[in-house]
Amino acid sequence: MSLKTANLAPRIGSEVESEAETLLSGVHAQEIRNLLEERGVLVFHDIDFSDEQMAEFAQTLGNIQGGTTYNGSIFKVTFDPEHNPLGETYLMGAQEWHIDRTDIDVPPLGSMLTPRVLAKTGGQTDFANTYAAYEDLPDEDKRFLEGLKVEHRVEAPIRRQTRNPTEEQVKAWQSKEPKIHPLVWQHRSGRKSLVLGGTACRILGMDEKESDALIERLMKWSEQPDYTYRHEWRLGDLVIWDNTGTMHRMVPFDKASGRRLHRVTLEGEEPIAAVA
Ligand SMILES: [Fe+2]
Repeated sequence: MSLKTANLAPRIGSEVESEAETLLSGVHAQEIRNLLEERGVLVFHDIDFSDEQMAEFAQTLGNIQGGTTYNGSIFKVTFDPEHNPLGETYLMGAQEWHIDRTDIDVPPLGSMLTPRVLAKTGGQTDFANTYAAYEDLPDEDKRFLEGLKVEHRVEAPIRRQTRNPTEEQVKAWQSKEPKIHPLVWQHRSGRKSLVLGGTACRILGMDEKESDALIERLMKWSEQPDYTYRHEWRLGDLVIWDNTGTMHRMVPFDKASGRRLHRVTLEGEEPIAAVA
């Protein structure tokens, strides 16, 4: 039996009806992976997974980061230093659209989140479908973008969003090397997606003005309502996104709220740049 789904926005996001036990059984794993690529973001309500169950479910979909014990695979997304001592150093940049880990060749396939503490206001997560955004570009644009390369700097959005950083923080950011990626990801499946976000600093071989203007234009294009979905968190939710075909960002919230989401990350399976 196939899963019952409902679209959340025209070109991104599906709400999926299922129960915790069914998800854990792995019986729908392949269907969920296919849906994930097709819709970019999958939302499950009232799943109420523990950390251990979330890691167990993630392993039905692929390899998880941090090994096979669930303890090592749970990353706590929060500014609360008790739960995440590095939140203050790295999390602010997540307020800008981004693909996770553009500092490496093979970014994660995707991640899943379940909320533990909610902010009273703000703290939603936005998603944008970079497959759909690319596919809907005029042919002339597609031809123009072919072969272009972009320098990504993980520190760029963090710097823009962090006021008065400490010396230690600046040092930590600078340790991340810039990385060159193609602007258009040619996936093994044959589909293509844009590789953009706040980490995209400049297009190689273009002057600064032209490069800034093109990145801005493509970002605006990708942010159109048809390609985006804002998730309003409810306790018990489970949300999965395809990190290779979407961008995401967190909506600002009061850091003292203790907002905390638990994340499990699926290891990447394919490099952005096609290996010759
Ligand atoms: Fe992220």
